[in-house]
Amino acid sequence: MLATMGALGLAPTAEAAGREPVFRAPRAGDFTLRGKGAAKVVIVGGGIAGLTTAYELGKAGYDCTILEARDRTGGRNFTVRGGDTNLDLYGNRQTARFSDGQYMNAGPGRIPQWMVTMDYCRELGVPVEVFTNSNANAYLFNEKAGMTAPVRYRTAKADVYGYVSELLAKATGKGALDSEITAEDQERLLEFLKSFGDIGSKLTYTGSERRGYSVDPAAAGTPGIELGPVPSASEVFASGVGRYFSFEFGYDQAMLMFQPVGGMDRIPAALTREVGKRRIRTGAVVQKITDKAHGVTVTYTEQGRTHTLDADYCVAALPPNILAKTSHNLGPAVQSALEACTPSSAGKIGLEYRNRWWESDHRIYGGITETDLDLAHIWYPSYGHHGKRGLIVGYYNTGSQADNYAKLTPREREERAVAQGVKIHGEKYRSELATSFSHHWRQTPHLEASWHSLSGGPDAPVFAPLNKAAGRVYFAGDYLSYADAWQHGAFTSARKTVAALHERVLA
Ligand code: PHE
Repeated sequence: MLATMGALGLAPTAEAAGREPVFRAPRAGDFTLRGKGAAKVVIVGGGIAGLTTAYELGKAGYDCTILEARDRTGGRNFTVRGGDTNLDLYGNRQTARFSDGQYMNAGPGRIPQWMVTMDYCRELGVPVEVFTNSNANAYLFNEKAGMTAPVRYRTAKADVYGYVSELLAKATGKGALDSEITAEDQERLLEFLKSFGDIGSKLTYTGSERRGYSVDPAAAGTPGIELGPVPSASEVFASGVGRYFSFEFGYDQAMLMFQPVGGMDRIPAALTREVGKRRIRTGAVVQKITDKAHGVTVTYTEQGRTHTLDADYCVAALPPNILAKTSHNLGPAVQSALEACTPSSAGKIGLEYRNRWWESDHRIYGGITETDLDLAHIWYPSYGHHGKRGLIVGYYNTGSQADNYAKLTPREREERAVAQGVKIHGEKYRSELATSFSHHWRQTPHLEASWHSLSGGPDAPVFAPLNKAAGRVYFAGDYLSYADAWQHGAFTSARKTVAALHERVLA
């Protein structure tokens, strides 16, 4: 019986340790012959976790109601288009003036292939396209290291890989590895270094066509001119460009990556459609969650009026830092756990340009420029190539860099971001700008965080009260996952909660 339940994902199996249990969505048929029926569930928060909870429970006929404090669903999954407005906690109100077809994903913007997010896109019929996370033609620019001009990723890689290969080959030649690997393996290592660093039979880096060309190769008679001069090893290491290479090795950030066609909010839009608008109340700010012996009462305000909603269960799918400020009777251990979830900051600015000069002048079609400036990253759009207008993410920064930008007025944010970008791209970065919109999550009402850090991870003892029900109240959100700051975390946390709740209702 247990083994069968395990196979159905209804009971833990030994093999499943460390692995996500296979998720089996609740079905109406699960209630047949059990004398049980679907319960009434109130879900606090209409972000990805809350929407997914309602969507999955809805498959078995649960009577779900979502209470969402903001005026739209999606939570941090927010795609900004022309006409969208936002009021931040400092009182800055912005309305986006982006033209038709231009958008900025202010929250999530990229999806790794392995994440469950891709399964939901498939199931919900949300078309996806490649999101270019790394591009050999994008730039690296470390002003603090004394760089006066940006260098292309491909050039920086050729130089760093070239010199590292040369040095390792030399060390090998001097016998430095004799006690580490056999002579035969040293030969194999040298073979690898020759191709990895393009260092030739002399095992010396003298530049490479991999650096790129100042004149591209073309027809006969035009072999092209390789980019020069080649900097010394010392100059290359001093520039610090090598620090950015490992990003794309990460399990979460390696190409290929994907995005929904037309904007990341196609995902919450599809979930909202499936759940049904009549089950979702926006502008409903929860004031109190009361767990009782036989049910849960949620008190909320909507346009100045106070309402209560009674249900059999509650799923708290709002940010932990917000729940920590909401009254509840879930006990001090729950409260301590919520307070131990530290909110983080992140911000982005969308810069819409009158033309796509990064494509025409720089040959950059998507990807990211990395810098040590306070804008951190510049994202080029992975959609609309060769169109008339285009939209760059002019900063995507975190921590104090994000908070410092947030303290400025939207106009000052734009000015500062543009002044930084000009250092990399020149005057067109200013002269071709049409309009901008900036967004900061720590300063966004009802969210007040870009993501959260949980010391010791979500399974640390202090968070245990959030990983099970507190009476009839369950918790869900990306913060309760090993994929914090990813929709995958919200999806899988919601699935875990749905499975636990459904199992209890069936028992
Ligand atoms: N998922 C977010 C992003 O890809 C935040 C994040 C960044 C998470 C880097 C992990 C690593 O930008």
